[in-house]
Amino acid sequence: MKPMKPRITDNLSNWFRRSRQELPWRGSSDPYAIWLSEVMLQQTRIATVIPYWTRFMKCYPDPASLAAAPIEEVLEMWAGLGYYSRGRNLHDAAKMIVEEYGGLFPEDPEQVRRLPGVGEYTTAAICSIAFQQPLAVIDGNVERVLCRVHRIDGDPKSGAARIAIAEAARDALDRHAPGDHNQAMMDLGRRVCTPRNPSCSDCPLAGECGALESGDVSRWPQPRKRRATEEQWWAAAVVVAADEVLLWPSDGELLKGQAGTPLVRLTGPEQDADPILELKFEEMGIPVPQVVGHGDLYQHAITYRKLQVRPLVYRWKGPVPPGVKRIPLHRADRVPALHRKAIAAAQQLLVGEPS
Ligand code: ADE
Repeated sequence: MKPMKPRITDNLSNWFRRSRQELPWRGSSDPYAIWLSEVMLQQTRIATVIPYWTRFMKCYPDPASLAAAPIEEVLEMWAGLGYYSRGRNLHDAAKMIVEEYGGLFPEDPEQVRRLPGVGEYTTAAICSIAFQQPLAVIDGNVERVLCRVHRIDGDPKSGAARIAIAEAARDALDRHAPGDHNQAMMDLGRRVCTPRNPSCSDCPLAGECGALESGDVSRWPQPRKRRATEEQWWAAAVVVAADEVLLWPSDGELLKGQAGTPLVRLTGPEQDADPILELKFEEMGIPVPQVVGHGDLYQHAITYRKLQVRPLVYRWKGPVPPGVKRIPLHRADRVPALHRKAIAAAQQLLVGEPS
């Protein structure tokens, strides 16, 4: 594997200057605006993000205004973007910026990395674009470009290939303009070095590309090894108080830390969920609520797990314990899909039930 030569950097930066995509956050060095765009762009297409980003910037132009907004309002603004944990993390991070950094977006990459919802990719994107720090961004698009240019074999997400990609990204980084360089690499991967039918004749890296030289660009990147799917059986406790659902932070292996319906894992489809959930309530230190009934089994996939979930519906009588989150039954869109499906099943069961 050969390191990228400086010429590549020149070719890439010339290409970016000529054909960069104009985006509303491009040209800004406001780390808040860049952070918002990067969080929205995780798993979402650029065209979808633009109107959301514009509305957010208008309503919440800085961390203080976002932190001061009620979370319900922020999630309503987020509605339609999906992956709601991003919206919740955004709000938590804004509060952290206000409380710990006096409302000023931190510059230190370690502090940026500690913000909720910010991983290695987002840290590198924010710090390079807003603060010109020499951190190379690696997303799926960059990975594909580098695997092709250097003919890096193996699963790009693990082992030697992952290390080779990180090294190649660091070597290629234009230390004089890391923000533009990173954005150029991402643009190139998205618009030119596409997964299928790449436009090699338009590529500024064509002269250096090992995959193109080989005559078969499609050999890189190599497909990821997929973990075998595992079928699991779970039960979810939908605890209803009047017309609200009570939610507790998850302490288990699924959606840890997020508020939701208490969950227990079952050994198989035959296991009776009631006593297992009773034990769970005892563990949580709360009295077992009154059982209303069993909802229909539903399926939900989380990474390699294929879950079969039995929702059990309970009625809570008396005062709600402190620290428990409550949402109206009809606003289940505010919780992750795993819990939303349990709540939907409960609603069916509750039709005609006296509350
Ligand atoms: N995808 C995510 N963030 C991006 C950025 N800043 N530029 C280009 N593509 C991106």
